[in-house]
Amino acid sequence: MSEFEALIAAAIKSREHAHAKFSNFHVGAALRTSSGKIFGGCNVENATYGLTVCAERVALFKAISEGERDFDVIAVVTDAGTLTPPCGACRQLIWEFCGDIPVILANLSGKTETILMRDLFPMPFDSSNL
Ligand code: THU
Repeated sequence: MSEFEALIAAAIKSREHAHAKFSNFHVGAALRTSSGKIFGGCNVENATYGLTVCAERVALFKAISEGERDFDVIAVVTDAGTLTPPCGACRQLIWEFCGDIPVILANLSGKTETILMRDLFPMPFDSSNL
């Protein structure tokens, strides 16, 4: 079993709850704390489109709202042949709350790729710029 198999499985499970009736693009995410707890999330769309929240931010906000602050890896799962990376807004928040963690991209066919946040989000704006 690969190091990230349980995390990917959690993201797949969360994806089943995706509320994506406008895009029909179902996304699941799973964020692991440094102590090993996993928080799942799915994308949640609505009729205004613009208020949609991505799976990654749902997972992150769930964890933050439960008092978690230390994270070591996040997984993102879709059914796309080309693996789905986090959007720009999610990159900003993953960077600010999690730093340079690995992001595991996976699909339902078992394709996976790992990329570090520093490569996904070079030259970030964060509190060090304030
Ligand atoms: N989406 C995510 O949840 N995470 C990503 O990494 C990319 C995009 C969602 C937002 C929207 O509900 C749908 O996918 C299409 O953009």
